[in-house]
This record gives sequence, structure tokens and C-alpha cells, in this order.
Amino acid sequence: MRLERGVLLAGATGVLGRHVLKLLCARGIRVRAMGRNAAALARLGAHECVVADLLEAETVRGCAGGVDAVISCAGAPLSLDWRDRAGFYKVDYLGHLPLIEDALRHRVSKFVYVSLAGAMALRQTEYAQAHERTVTTLAESGLKYTIVRPAGLFHSFREFLRMARMGQIVLPGNGGARTNPIDECDAARACVEALWQDETQLIVGGPEVFTRRRIAEMAFESQGKRPRVIGAPRALFAPVVAGMRLLNRRLAAIAEFGIAVSQVDCIAPKYGERRLGEYLRAAARRSGGGEE
Ligand SMILES: NC(=O)c1ccc[n+]([C@@H]2O[C@H](COP(=O)([O-])OP(=O)(O)OC[C@H]3O[C@@H](n4cnc5c(N)ncnc54)[C@H](OP(=O)(O)O)[C@@H]3O)[C@@H](O)[C@H]2O)c1
Repeated sequence: MRLERGVLLAGATGVLGRHVLKLLCARGIRVRAMGRNAAALARLGAHECVVADLLEAETVRGCAGGVDAVISCAGAPLSLDWRDRAGFYKVDYLGHLPLIEDALRHRVSKFVYVSLAGAMALRQTEYAQAHERTVTTLAESGLKYTIVRPAGLFHSFREFLRMARMGQIVLPGNGGARTNPIDECDAARACVEALWQDETQLIVGGPEVFTRRRIAEMAFESQGKRPRVIGAPRALFAPVVAGMRLLNRRLAAIAEFGIAVSQVDCIAPKYGERRLGEYLRAAARRSGGGEE
């Protein structure tokens, strides 16, 4: 595909989005970075910025005008910040409807959307459901599209560094489920390569498979600490999630997803090259032994 007119990048300020932006720029592709925060967008160094909120459809209209392709790494954050309340159904699904409409209106040649590996096994969770509704909408839209499906991005495991610093990690269940997390930089490469792919799915994982318990142990080891990881019965978490749902639906959905994902193997085809141990050690070093 020719990309002379450039790419609209939604979620450009996010962890994955920032890596995608760098890779696009490195290939000489013009990027229109889209996000909610003008100051954060301006710092990215994109060719062009457009302030738009997926939850305000009128701000999204016209964003895809004059570009060849759209990449969306946008979604409700996985951060544990209580102030951010908009949940996955609203942002990841409903929020993408006006963006897909705009891409159709402007006849873009390709739409790349980021969902997750193993979504079928996790379809009972709001997080996976919201992403998959967007996948279905894209599949039915008539747009040419590719869904990039990463296993857990390395940065998601930084919460383990914080817990390890506090002295203990409690896992739902026995922590025996296996996965191969992928560095965000490698996953970003998949998002960019997807622009030229004919396949509708690109499932990508990292080079090493770990149990979740092993990842928790690595969070301690990266800080030179003796691991203290315990498993707790899943049933213990249910009332906590129910209580959280009353206060912040997004955080409850993260907890629900965290519990579900810790019970199933999620192993994606090997694509990434960077190693989780090195990532955790570097993150721990940068913050003087704790998380960043
Ligand atoms: N983290 C993982 O392990 C993982 C694994 C598989 C798939 N994914 C999916 O991959 C995507 C990117 O993940 P990530 O880890 O890079 O997430 P992230 O760092 O939380 O970035 C999310 C991006 O979405 C933007 N956003 C949120 N709400 C928005 C709204 N209402 N309107 C416009 N933009 C909005 C954020 O902008 P602001 O800067 O304004 O908040 C940010 O740029 C997400 O869909 C995520 O669910 C993540």
C-alpha cells in the first residue's frame, strides 16, 4: 500500500501508540497523531496533531480526512487511576464507532485495530468483549482491516514491580497459567507491518513463555529481592470486584480481566524479540529499585 498521505494514529499518547508513532516516523511516513490532550500530543513530535475524544463523536468527525490509513491503539487505560472512569465498553467499543464511520466516509485504504490475543477464552470479560465488538464492526464495515492481537504488553507487568516493592504479590489461583508477553516496541512493529498485510489477524507474542507465578517472581528478582508470591482462591476476589463495580466500572473490569486471564494459558505465535527479564530489570533500575 502507498502511504503518501500518511496515517491517522489514534491513541498516539499511549504506551503502544508512542512506539507506533516512532516506527512510522522512522519509515518516513507522515503521522497525524490523535488524542484527548493537546499538550501531550504536542510533545510527541508528530507531523500533525488533532485533538479528539472518542467519547465525543463530533470531535472525531473529519479526523481521517486526507490520510491513507488509520491505526488505532486507543482504548480505556489499564492504569489503576481511580479518576479515569470511562470503561472499556464505552471507549473501546462505542468510542470506535465514529472513528470507523469517519474512516469509511473518507475511504481510507486500511484500518489497523489493536485487540488482544486469546480474546475467545476471555469473552466473558467486559475488556475482551468490548474489543471484539469493535473487531466485528470492522469486519462488517467493508473496510480493509487487520486486527493486531498482542499477548500482554510488558508494561502491564510493571504493576508487579510495585507490588514486589511492597513485599508481596497475591495471584488469583495458583499462578500456573502460561503466557508469552511481548515488548510494546515489538507489538508496535506488528501494528506498522499490518498496514501492508492482507491477513485480517496478526497474533503476536514474545520470545519466552512463563507461568504467571514465574513473572511475579521475576518482578522480585529484578529488584534483588527474594520472591514472596502467594495464590488466593478466585472466589475471594468476586466480592471485591462487585464492590469496585459500584465505584468505578473500568477498574472493576480490569480486576475481572486480571482474574480471568490468570486462569487460562494465553500463548501467541512468537513475534517479539525483546525479553521480559531485561525489561523488568531496566524498569526497576530506572526507578532505583522500585517501579517507575
Ligand atoms: N497493555 C496490554 O497488555 C495490552 C495487551 C493487548 C492489547 N492491549 C490493547 O492495546 C491498546 C493499547 O494499549 P496500551 O497499553 O498502549 O494502552 P494505554 O497506554 O492506556 O493507551 C491508551 C490510549 O488510548 C487513548 N484514549 C483513552 N481514552 C480515549 C478517548 N476517550 N478518546 C481518545 N483517546 C483515548 C489514551 O489517550 P490519553 O493519553 O488521553 O489517556 C492513550 O493514548 C488498548 O486497546 C489495549 O486494550 C493492551
